[in-house]
Amino acid sequence: MLNINSVLRLNNGVEMPALGFGVFQTSPEDTVSSVKAAVKTGYRLIDTASVYRNEREVGKAIAQTEIARDQIFVTTKLWISEYGYDETLYGFDRSLRKLGLEYIDLYLLHWPVPSDFGRTIQSYKAAERLLAEGRVKAIGVSNFSAEHIDRLHAETSIMPAVNQIELHPYFSQTEMRAEHRRRGIVTQAWSPLGAVNIYEADKEHPARHLLDDGVLKSIAQAHGKTPAQIVLRWHLQQGIAIIPKSTKSARIAENADVFDFELSADETAQIDGLETGIRGGYGPEEGDRDLFPAVIAD
Ligand code: A2P
Repeated sequence: MLNINSVLRLNNGVEMPALGFGVFQTSPEDTVSSVKAAVKTGYRLIDTASVYRNEREVGKAIAQTEIARDQIFVTTKLWISEYGYDETLYGFDRSLRKLGLEYIDLYLLHWPVPSDFGRTIQSYKAAERLLAEGRVKAIGVSNFSAEHIDRLHAETSIMPAVNQIELHPYFSQTEMRAEHRRRGIVTQAWSPLGAVNIYEADKEHPARHLLDDGVLKSIAQAHGKTPAQIVLRWHLQQGIAIIPKSTKSARIAENADVFDFELSADETAQIDGLETGIRGGYGPEEGDRDLFPAVIAD
């Protein structure tokens, strides 16, 4: 039975909490309080990235909770401006220092850089070294296509443990999930609540508010739950890891309160039917430095 402590077993035996807490777009000011609220609520995975510019605050919050290190799972990601073998070792040390930790549970390459895939491969090789040295417990990727995974794996030794991708009922990634299954990769959903369809909306892509969808509202009503809880339960029942983000303690609690009900097969099918085939954010082919020109400060 799913519960707040449910884990997914990665391809190297490491257990990763299925429910995690994300801090993308969380300001440094809000990060300490929201991570502390999440840990107090019972979340045991915190997902950050060097490019989120809040690793220091994530580390501070974890230290303040005084939770035992082995009771919390920390993910961070290497940004594309840090790619290259030596650059990755440097970037990793910087993340570790900011987080104030001695190891990272899961280290992800944040985006493939198709125009310079050789550097992406060099970074992954450096991540393999960090894994061999015990400085990370698992390594993986984010926003990779199946083809990127295969190109990477052809030149490296360790299959990524995780691919973190945009995944919500409007873009449910059934094909990628099958590709992951075939390779023993765990699927982790970013923007599980579909808010990327709001914050990345523009003239060409008008905002689509997943949580206002009538199908979700009626299923929510039937269970005495909120549309957000229905969506998160939909992920978890399919073995998809999630990292919902909120800066509000009531929502942080709401998003973890998804273990006292079950979606029927019919309800799951109704939610599956919301698929639009349109992603809300950038895709695997769009990771290049011109598009994402961030520099990570020491
Ligand atoms: P806020 O931080 O103000 O709570 P996603 O993970 O899909 O990108 O969604 C994150 C967005 O959804 C954030 O803008 C967050 O806003 C909002 N959010 C998080 N949890 C909930 C919830 N339970 N109900 C409604 N909105 C939520």
